[in-house]
Amino acid sequence: MGILYGRHILLGVTASVAAYKSCELARMLIKAGAVVRVVMTEHAAELVRPLLFETLTGNKVFMEMFPEMRDDPMEHIGLADWADLFLIAPATANFIGKAASGVADDLISTTFLTVDSPVIIAPAMNSRMWQDPSVQANIELLQERGVGIIGPGTGELACGTSGEGRLANLDTIFDAVVGILNKPGPLSGRKILISAGPTREFIDEVRFISNPSTGRMGFMLAGIASSWGAEVVLVHGPTHIEPPGFVRSIEVISAEEMATAVLNNAPDADIIIMAAAVSDWTLPRIDGKIKKKGRDFQKLELRPTKDILAELGKQKGTKILVGFAVETENMIENAREKMNRKNLDMIFVNNPREAGTTFGAATNAGYLITSREERKIPLMDKGELARIILKRLVDILSKTD
Ligand SMILES: Cc1cc2nc3c(=O)[nH]c(=O)nc-3n(C[C@H](O)[C@H](O)[C@H](O)COP(=O)(O)O)c2cc1C
Repeated sequence: MGILYGRHILLGVTASVAAYKSCELARMLIKAGAVVRVVMTEHAAELVRPLLFETLTGNKVFMEMFPEMRDDPMEHIGLADWADLFLIAPATANFIGKAASGVADDLISTTFLTVDSPVIIAPAMNSRMWQDPSVQANIELLQERGVGIIGPGTGELACGTSGEGRLANLDTIFDAVVGILNKPGPLSGRKILISAGPTREFIDEVRFISNPSTGRMGFMLAGIASSWGAEVVLVHGPTHIEPPGFVRSIEVISAEEMATAVLNNAPDADIIIMAAAVSDWTLPRIDGKIKKKGRDFQKLELRPTKDILAELGKQKGTKILVGFAVETENMIENAREKMNRKNLDMIFVNNPREAGTTFGAATNAGYLITSREERKIPLMDKGELARIILKRLVDILSKTD
């Protein structure tokens, strides 16, 4: 998991011959962990087929302002809200002119006017076009308005001449994206402790009691919180999924080890999110391997493990405490009861019997509950859910400051 883990980058592609380089740029951003959506002009689609971007990004390409059928009639606003950063690379002289003068006659220029997040424009054109006073004036105006302009570079141009106008080096564009997105984020200065994954309670040396949790939810929360500036400690059980490489991780096996690691790291945390599926029971571990026909199996003595969340609730102070619940019936009432009993500020509850919400799935759906509200969460990727939870926590923090 890379430096842009979980960040939403809207990549705008306009009709410059350098449009083919945007494919490589999209790949670099995705490799660094970003989620990339492409919005392109109809002219750009004459040069590079949208299908190529769809294949590279795994997402639909946005182009038409007025398609016959559309899931969301307010797509330009949806896209603008979705983006953490809007990167237009390559940007034609035409797009730059429209952006500078407020023209909104296609999806990309309309989105440009709607977007709230940082914008980077990487111009690419013939050097005479670039030096034209109107283009220079437009660039100056955009810069004054806070738009980041990267490049253009100097060198060989597609028209056979050489000069200033070629798309900036892709590494330079990439570094600019990282630089902007890694500025202090909404969770800068906050310490977040997150638990994730299953625990194992060994019966003997080769068998254990566990559950199918993969840790995905907690890993998403940890990666995104970190890229939003938080100092994250991630305590996780054994899983085949890699935790985000840039987050401080502590790997544990048993519920007892999980309890120790979490409680040791709890005192200076501002937020604690317990997304781990901790075993409710443990048992004395028997040395060696119990024989299949042995009578020892009938003597297994299960005893309850420490309730980490309840323990955290008792020593909560000003911390924000978030729990997860799995309920097959009376979801909201049961989750609310758990939230109150354990002194939590927020709880996410799901019903594993519903499609796409089983343990280990990449998606989830359910209810996000606080003392004030119950928000229904439709089926979505766990990365999206992590962002919703963290955004809500940012809101709560801003009210308690
Ligand atoms: C093959 C080809 C390459 C072009 N390359 C550029 C370019 O690098 N920069 C530019 O500003 N315009 C370039 N143009 C002209 C733009 O495509 C033209 O101005 C178009 O109207 C821009 O549309 P758009 O901004 O909606 O994508 C090129 C045109 C063609 C046919």
